[in-house]
Amino acid sequence: MKIHSTTTMIATSTVILASTAFRRGLSFTPTTTTLRRMASTSLSSTTSPPTTPPPKPKTRTRRILSGVQPTGSLHLGNYLGAIRQWVDFQNKETEPFEDENGFIVNTENYFCVVDLHAITMPHDPKELGESTLSSAALYLAAGIDPEKSRVFIQSHVAPHAELCWLLNCATPMNWLERMIQYKDKSAKAESSDSSVGVGLFTYPVLMAADILLYQAERVPVGEDQRQHLELARDITRRWNDLYCKGGAFKKRCKKAGIPSYPTFTEPEAMILSKGDGARVMSLSDGSSKMSKSDADDNSRINVLDPPKVIRQKVKKCKTDAAVGITWDDPERPEATNLLNIYLAVQPSDGSGKTRADIEEEVKDMTWGDFKPVLAEAIVEHLEPIQKRYKEVREDEEYLMGVLGDGADSANEIASKTLNAARVAMGFVARV
Ligand code: ADP
Ligand code: TRP
Repeated sequence: MKIHSTTTMIATSTVILASTAFRRGLSFTPTTTTLRRMASTSLSSTTSPPTTPPPKPKTRTRRILSGVQPTGSLHLGNYLGAIRQWVDFQNKETEPFEDENGFIVNTENYFCVVDLHAITMPHDPKELGESTLSSAALYLAAGIDPEKSRVFIQSHVAPHAELCWLLNCATPMNWLERMIQYKDKSAKAESSDSSVGVGLFTYPVLMAADILLYQAERVPVGEDQRQHLELARDITRRWNDLYCKGGAFKKRCKKAGIPSYPTFTEPEAMILSKGDGARVMSLSDGSSKMSKSDADDNSRINVLDPPKVIRQKVKKCKTDAAVGITWDDPERPEATNLLNIYLAVQPSDGSGKTRADIEEEVKDMTWGDFKPVLAEAIVEHLEPIQKRYKEVREDEEYLMGVLGDGADSANEIASKTLNAARVAMGFVARV
């Protein structure tokens, strides 16, 4: 799976980041790699005894954070564009490694169910709780492992809402007026004669708060969130510029007993490359994205749809009259989308078909031939997730335990950042 970042971090900022994280007082926990390294140092010491103890390896922590709104059921777009990417990252990149500056980097993954975001559009209080728990259970069922990642509910960590307010006051209105998601959602609401709440307008600021509270360096999301990530970066720069400079800032920090670093780390988006699930399109219109907010349930495949429903939805999905199924023809967005989905749901154990295999397989197929093949591939991919989901959702004690631990751990970090933000802004500390 190819992942590319929105920006290339320049070497100097990497150094600053690394040393900032180090200076933030992150504790040293010996990891497998570091223990091995220490063991090899002490072994070699049997031949020539060292006069001074070996220097402690310098360590730093990098955090990854992401979230999905618990509105309705999660669909294939959320799964392929976001959650599966989190799982891949968790499984492949959580091991400690040494960075270019000689720091041992320990990775911490945080995945939250962003229920405060879910109320930015009209919602049904009867359903919010179940959607929230169902989303959390789905994260775990899709492969998020509580031993490697923290899972929590956003509203269980109060600093999210408080930092959002502070950031709201530091964010120019016109930055938010430019947000595509806000323009789309408010235009839709207006056309159906309903008003939108202020929360929808400041939604991206809450998202920035989610990220900045954890000093998250990387944020795995789908393509549609790129603009929100850019906004979080702009807010970071503006904040650090407005409030974290000069002798007065240093004095406030000293008085509060905290180090005088810029409050926030600038985050980077992690977005899959095109076709890998970055943007899964609607089944009823290959040129608009698959979304929970589409009124037509047939436009999406929900991760928890039973096999029968998946088969029906694929059977009914929009296609075209051309013969043979081809990729990347701008005139045939539906064909490209369905082939992308077919490729994305191939088994990842090495037995899955490649793009070239698929091109060969489908080149002479009719839609009538291809649709059942696609439906079976989706069903097979989702079945184990659905089975695991059922087990997790039925074990409420386990689920609440994971979410409780996640919230405790999130709170610890988030409260520290919030305190630093309050000091930077100049609030009186509570004694
Ligand atoms: P929705 O648009 O369906 O309401 P969210 O806004 O809650 O979904 O998005 C949750 C995550 O899923 C985000 O990282 C988003 O980029 C990703 N995502 C949503 N829809 C798609 C899609 N159609 N294709 C790829 N990724 C998507
Ligand atoms: N706005 C994101 C979406 O609609 C969800 C989200 C909220 C999020 N807070 C976040 C994603 C923080 C990544 C990081 O998909």
